[in-house]
Amino acid sequence: NILILFGPPGAGKGTHGPAIQDMLGLPQLSTGDMLRAAVAAKTEVGKQADAIMKAGGLVSDDIVVAIIKERIKDEDCKFGFILDGFPRTLQQAKALDKMLAEEGTCVSKVIELQVPDSVLEERICGRWIHKESGRSFHVKYAPPKSMKLDKNGKPIPETMKDDETGDLLMQRKDDTAEALVARLKSYHKETVPILTHYKPHGVVRTVNANQEMEGVWKEINEALQRGG
Ligand code: AP5
Ligand code: ZN
Repeated sequence: NILILFGPPGAGKGTHGPAIQDMLGLPQLSTGDMLRAAVAAKTEVGKQADAIMKAGGLVSDDIVVAIIKERIKDEDCKFGFILDGFPRTLQQAKALDKMLAEEGTCVSKVIELQVPDSVLEERICGRWIHKESGRSFHVKYAPPKSMKLDKNGKPIPETMKDDETGDLLMQRKDDTAEALVARLKSYHKETVPILTHYKPHGVVRTVNANQEMEGVWKEINEALQRGG
């Protein structure tokens, strides 16, 4: 069972990934989370990726393909996995297909979270994340229980804490309006063609991600259950 969570920045991949992971008992592999961990750990890959990510560009195919290739060898990926943020170029999709073919398997489903660009700036600029787990919060749509606002209605950073661990939340360096423009540009140019690649395989399921989170989750569930 190999699932791809597909959609632009802010579509809800990181929001719904953990629930799919719990439901299917498959690990969620987020190349974005893996790269952010590499940046934080100042590894060789992290040093190369840092500036590119901050500007909203794409890290090289060779790097991310190598990361995924290593990760899916792990024991917990034996029965499948959920990909979030990968593949992101046609070249990555082809590399993935090849890796899977070597194991006698292929992509089971691509869940496309469809949402217009116009709603993404508010989602991205209001996001706060829990670094260790990758959990997403939002000042308006998914506030942490501890959140307090200042007199201008802005969240007080010291009150932005993860619901489960109480750890302080943070904002991503690339969650700015400027970087979003670059991220959306590469999404439409490099990433959307992947859908055209997988459509003939009959595995693409499109979900309306421009509605409240519960509605999106309901449609994802239906898409996962629908056969084919
Ligand atoms: P990555 O971490 O993958 O970022 P992304 O694709 O830009 O996606 P996001 O994490 O921004 O969006 P999401 O869909 O997860 O949104 P979320 O659910 O959190 O990649 C980051 C960077 O790493 C890339 O730019 C690139 O440089 C590099 N990289 C990663 N993978 C790569 C690859 N394969 N190749 C090359 N480079 C790679 O939701 C966003 C916010 O909206 C949250 O606050 C959430 O609470 C809120 N929200 C979610 N759903 C709703 C809803 N229905 N209504 C209201 N609010 C909502
Ligand atoms: Zn994400």
